[in-house]
Amino acid sequence: MHNGAMAKITILRTDITTLDVDAVVNAANRQLAGGGGVDGAIHRAAGPQLSAACRKLRETSLPDGLPTGQSVATTAGNMAAKWVIHTVGPVWAKTIDKSDQLASCYRTSLQVADEVGAKTIAFPTISAGVYGYPMDEATRIAVETCQQTDTAVETIYLVAYSAEAEAEYRTALENS
Ligand code: APR
Repeated sequence: MHNGAMAKITILRTDITTLDVDAVVNAANRQLAGGGGVDGAIHRAAGPQLSAACRKLRETSLPDGLPTGQSVATTAGNMAAKWVIHTVGPVWAKTIDKSDQLASCYRTSLQVADEVGAKTIAFPTISAGVYGYPMDEATRIAVETCQQTDTAVETIYLVAYSAEAEAEYRTALENS
């Protein structure tokens, strides 16, 4: 518990790999194998230390991979950040409400940030790319969950990678 502490939420339109924050969150896959989108960008920016750290996790604590909605920290390799916090978002489905799983990504990433002592963290719009989440829903869940999670993190950057994402984050923040 952190005595009901609230983090400040800031919306930024940028490439998340360029940020000088304590922790950058990665929209990873269960295998922690790298991929396209923000995952690919983070792996390229971090360099081989990151894939080595992911491989090590698979060989030790995560033989079956990282379940959806859970988070784990590794080195950030060559990036300015100290840690990458990997989380696995749900694949969007029209007829199944997976908002609890998506909220869990934000909640467990903030828990891991607290465990490693990160005070600043940047999130991409988890599940809003390859995993197909509508941008309005993805950004609303991001804003609401970050607002509702008790954490020692001081600043949360919600990173928009498009004009649409930025507009949806601002709407979500206004409506929250
Ligand atoms: N900085 C910030 N945001 C980015 C960047 C970047 N450099 N590159 C992409 N994004 C944004 C996308 O525009 C999207 O809004 O990140 C959001 C998440 O998209 P994806 O990276 O596709 O992540 P997700 O939808 O969660 O799918 C995860 O994709 O790359 C694979 O290995 C990954 O299998 C996993 C899946």
